[in-house]
Amino acid sequence: MDDFDAVVVAASIIIGKYQPYIRQFVRRHAAGLRGRPTAFISVNGSSPESLPEWRAAATRYVDTFLKDTGWQPRWTASFSGALRYPRYGIVTRWIMKMISRQTGGPTDTSREYEFTDWNAVDQFALDLAAGLGHGGLNRSRGPVRQGTGSRSPMARLHVRPEQPGDEAAIAQVTDGAFGQPDESRMVDAIRRAGHPAISLVAEEENTVVGHILFTHVGIGSSLPLADVMGLAPMAVLPVRQRQGIGSRLVQEGLLACAGAGCHAVVVLGRPEFYSRFGFRPASGYGLRCEYPVPDEAFMAIELVPGALRGRTGLVRYLSEFGDT
Ligand SMILES: Cc1cc2nc3c(=O)[nH]c(=O)nc-3n(C[C@H](O)[C@H](O)[C@H](O)COP(=O)(O)O)c2cc1C
Repeated sequence: MDDFDAVVVAASIIIGKYQPYIRQFVRRHAAGLRGRPTAFISVNGSSPESLPEWRAAATRYVDTFLKDTGWQPRWTASFSGALRYPRYGIVTRWIMKMISRQTGGPTDTSREYEFTDWNAVDQFALDLAAGLGHGGLNRSRGPVRQGTGSRSPMARLHVRPEQPGDEAAIAQVTDGAFGQPDESRMVDAIRRAGHPAISLVAEEENTVVGHILFTHVGIGSSLPLADVMGLAPMAVLPVRQRQGIGSRLVQEGLLACAGAGCHAVVVLGRPEFYSRFGFRPASGYGLRCEYPVPDEAFMAIELVPGALRGRTGLVRYLSEFGDT
């Protein structure tokens, strides 16, 4: 425990209780848990999250567990899990079917049902990262979250790092989103030049529907800084826009940046969209954009509080951004 700055414990409910080893872990490490930031993630899911009973049960499970163990995590969250009928033994399958029927849940035992709202999970991870000093978001104790159920199209969306072979699909999405080939040429040029970058794709049923790129920027000089990146470009297939894919890409992108040791990110874009993630006008940090844009369109976020203090001046993107 001494080696950890923070601890996140996740457990699921099986027949009214969390796994016994979770209870043992929390009891055994009571002192260590008290001495550092901690979070408890609870999964339960014998009914769809949309039912009010789910929320009531979720709250009850968490409250009882914390009261019994005396643990007071700084953050708690509840998510619905999965009903994987085909993987259960015959008795478990039958019992789960009965419970599900009573609570209005699905009863087709030939299928698996996943109720987890992965967007809510991502948001909780972001809140957590922010609370631990890896983001500019809210530090308050996280709310018990409730998802929207398995039939949301977002449940099938998967965000992952770009891999060799994704180039053409990324270009197609980028061309579609921007209505011109300039941005995809820029992405290709950056890739060809071998610049370190964070490049993520949003994929649905093996089809790339979105892409986001972060590259290092310089401040006051064209020398790229190791811990400051610029978000550009981001693209979502036109037919899939306004469905939360861009938000997922930004959230997961910021997490990936924080994980890669990046302490601040700048972006040129719509303030009403990017402010949701904690971006603020870059001018407030003393940063200027090298392109002629309205002040409020150039924004920055500190993934580590204070990361931009004392670093002011003109932000310089890679030369590939200007060349294409
Ligand atoms: C045998 C069994 C018993 C369960 N009992 C409960 C329960 O009492 N209350 C509840 O809310 N969910 C219950 N669930 C739902 C689980 O919390 C949910 O399936 C969760 O995703 C299981 O965690 P896992 O995906 O890590 O296996 C039960 C699931 C199984 C398979």
